[in-house]
Amino acid sequence: MEKISEIKIEKVISGGNGIGRLDGKTVMVPLTAVGDTVTINIKKEKKNYIIAEIANVVEPSPDRIEPECEYFGECGGCAFWHVPYETELEYKRQWCLETINKIGKLELNSVDVVAQKESTHYRNRVQFKVRKVGGEIMLGFYRRRSKFIINIDSCMIVKKRINDQIPALKAMLGELKFGDQVPQVEVTVDDNNKGVVIVVHVTKRSPQKVKRALKEVFPKHFGEDVALFMQLGRKSSISSVCKGARTSYSIPSPNLRSEITIELSPGSFLQVNYEQNIFLIDKVMKYLELTRRDSVIDLFCGSGNFSLPISFFCHDVTGVESYPLAIMDATNNKKRHAMKNIEFICSDVNSEMKRLAESHVEYDHAIIDPPRDGAMETLKDINRIINDKIIYISCDIATFSRDAAYLKDIGFELADICLVDMFPRTYHVETIAKFSKK
Ligand SMILES: C[S@@+](CC[C@H](N)C(=O)[O-])C[C@H]1O[C@@H](n2cnc3c(N)ncnc32)[C@H](O)[C@@H]1O
Repeated sequence: MEKISEIKIEKVISGGNGIGRLDGKTVMVPLTAVGDTVTINIKKEKKNYIIAEIANVVEPSPDRIEPECEYFGECGGCAFWHVPYETELEYKRQWCLETINKIGKLELNSVDVVAQKESTHYRNRVQFKVRKVGGEIMLGFYRRRSKFIINIDSCMIVKKRINDQIPALKAMLGELKFGDQVPQVEVTVDDNNKGVVIVVHVTKRSPQKVKRALKEVFPKHFGEDVALFMQLGRKSSISSVCKGARTSYSIPSPNLRSEITIELSPGSFLQVNYEQNIFLIDKVMKYLELTRRDSVIDLFCGSGNFSLPISFFCHDVTGVESYPLAIMDATNNKKRHAMKNIEFICSDVNSEMKRLAESHVEYDHAIIDPPRDGAMETLKDINRIINDKIIYISCDIATFSRDAAYLKDIGFELADICLVDMFPRTYHVETIAKFSKK
């Protein structure tokens, strides 16, 4: 049976959870604001902590505002529409600083957060969950803590061009005989809002039948500027159904010799916030302070997002990435810009680092931009390979902090760090940090 208790929210921590105390235990309550007094429904009780949901807001925090998003609270996509954007940034700044100092064993007094200019309609790629219920297509995101889909007409954080596709997507999926075997669709738009690329995921069907059916229904709902792909299983199964635009974005020229255009295939990693990605690229260059003699290894390089722009300023760049299509994109991007000082290697970074250490290969600097799990294994031999700086970009403050502690132990000192709010309204934060060898 659920127990009802009243608590006061003292702070907000990672995952967007408000924290209060009950019977000596820490209570985590999502969707709360600092200063709220709430009654809670206890969902899980452990030895040291409790997970709960708001039952009732008894006395709202002075920070509370009316959410702009009509789905907020139910939809699992966002964590912060109930406080102003500046308050959300302050929560993020505080919990990241605490995590860096606690797990990263550092003693920082402060950390800067780079705000997004417009905290709405910033995402240029999204994965919508899909379910066919009684002939109706439900499309949206999972309800919080559940696999039930919140059916949406539009989303406040995706680009408007993505929202424009929703009615046609629902109509097309509704027409498909195997609509109940489509768990997800992915939609990507350009930074210049020209092209749209859709990937329809299908379970348990023959590729030929799926392709034939999609080819038939797709042109009824979408124009020629929209490309369609299908995915039946792993990323390696992605194949083209109807040709259209390619996904591309431009890195502007102010600090480069000329503008760079990055083209990518569906399945290749894309930084989903264009504006903040340009900030990251600029920051990587500022942190590296490259000279014409420098060699750089870009680990987890994707389609060349960092390798290409930095290549103008250093002697050579080696990019390492395991997804074959991303390496194909990176190589094509390099060729299109006639860049001769970059080599892209398709490999698992950990095997590649092992090979480099055994072959006594060295670089001046490394860029490391791993997935959420971090780069513990990758860092094992790093002090045998890197002589000067490491620029670490991370989308998970806990694994970043763990890796920062390790880097400190092996002789790389944190020289600078900055939080970049790439995912406003959600509880995710990007971090970029510079480590220098002692
Ligand atoms: C966070 S993304 C960064 C991509 C790129 N730096 C960018 O800014 O677009 C991480 C990348 O690492 C790749 N990846 C994941 N695990 C890997 C591994 N073990 N070895 C090599 N690449 C890996 C993913 O395919 C993805 O492209």
